[in-house]
Amino acid sequence: MSVPQNQAAWLVKAGFPLELGDAPLPTAGPGELVIKNAAIAINPLDCHMQDSGVFVQQWPAIFGCDVAGEVYEVGKEVERFKGGDRVIGHAINLTSGRPQDGAFALYTVIPADKAAILPNEISFTDGVVVPFAFEAAVCALSLKEPGVAMPGVSTPALGLPYPSLQDVPSTGKTLVVYGGSSSVGSMTIQIATAAGIHVIAISGVHNFDFSKRCGAARVFNHKDALLAGKVIEAVRDDGNEFIGIFDAIATPETYADDITILEQLGGGHLACVHPPPPNSDLPANVTAGMIFAVNDVVKPVWKDYVTPALQSGKLQCLPRPFVVGKGLEHIQSALDKIKAGVSATKLVVEL
Ligand SMILES: NC(=O)c1ccc[n+]([C@@H]2O[C@H](COP(=O)([O-])OP(=O)(O)OC[C@H]3O[C@@H](n4cnc5c(N)ncnc54)[C@H](OP(=O)(O)O)[C@@H]3O)[C@@H](O)[C@H]2O)c1
Repeated sequence: MSVPQNQAAWLVKAGFPLELGDAPLPTAGPGELVIKNAAIAINPLDCHMQDSGVFVQQWPAIFGCDVAGEVYEVGKEVERFKGGDRVIGHAINLTSGRPQDGAFALYTVIPADKAAILPNEISFTDGVVVPFAFEAAVCALSLKEPGVAMPGVSTPALGLPYPSLQDVPSTGKTLVVYGGSSSVGSMTIQIATAAGIHVIAISGVHNFDFSKRCGAARVFNHKDALLAGKVIEAVRDDGNEFIGIFDAIATPETYADDITILEQLGGGHLACVHPPPPNSDLPANVTAGMIFAVNDVVKPVWKDYVTPALQSGKLQCLPRPFVVGKGLEHIQSALDKIKAGVSATKLVVEL
């Protein structure tokens, strides 16, 4: 059998467009899979990496986090997968720095414990919206001990239960999700509600139905001048224990609302996708941190939850994909498009 030629969209220098070129065909080490990618998704992180070189450990770089495709090679010690399986997976160049671990290639190495079989009735294009946002959501909700997100910034430890395949009784706890129509925010709503958490979401008016479809009990408009007061009233009305806020947007404007809400509701967790405000700006009873979306806490959920949950519809491939094009050459235009802003959509390139 002839050896296929791998190709990748390389970042040669920070701030420069990606360049298409040959890449070595990767091999699967112990605990790894090589995936022949059929679809890859674009995340805001990819823009940060391209623009500033942040997190790039090895030049030239191949980055990108989300893959869907067929297993091409199975490494030693992998028992859950075999060649030809249809899978989705989280590529972790972000932490490993190795080019072969970046999604923006025809073939990518992923850890087998960050992959799941994709049911036959779900297309690669739909399935690829899941991996990175899923890992981020479980990290945000289920870490039990704070870790280190970046120097001087800890990860939040909400210690909430994993999502369940069954319809679980309510935990009697309410979480506010700021940015309920974003990729990470909407996935966090799905995972939290599958764990019996009551979710109040904050989204654009045009995405209220979308946030409810993900599981939010109530949704408020992020552009409403009276937003904080309305959310405070809703949390009080629901009468649950208030856990805190997952802020999937994390800008000075959202932080101002977060602090008002937390202050009025007696404090709680503030879990953010970027570094939270300094402790001196926070009420004393607020524990704040920044999530970091690569963590072993997610392993059991990848193994036991993702495939049956996709199969039963408990885990939906949301937000819906928007296909920018077919071929590695479309990744750069997808990156340009995400910089311009998307709404309740995940940009996908098919291969
Ligand atoms: N720390 C980590 O490990 C980690 C992991 C993943 C992502 N992130 C970061 O998390 C952020 C979100 O990523 P993503 O992929 O989820 O983004 P995304 O899907 O591209 O976000 C787009 C959404 O943001 C919403 N939005 C924008 N401004 C808003 C506001 N003021 N209030 C409420 N919603 C607002 C829009 O809502 P409407 O259209 O409804 O207005 C839109 O649906 C990015 O900054 C990313 O870099 C961090």
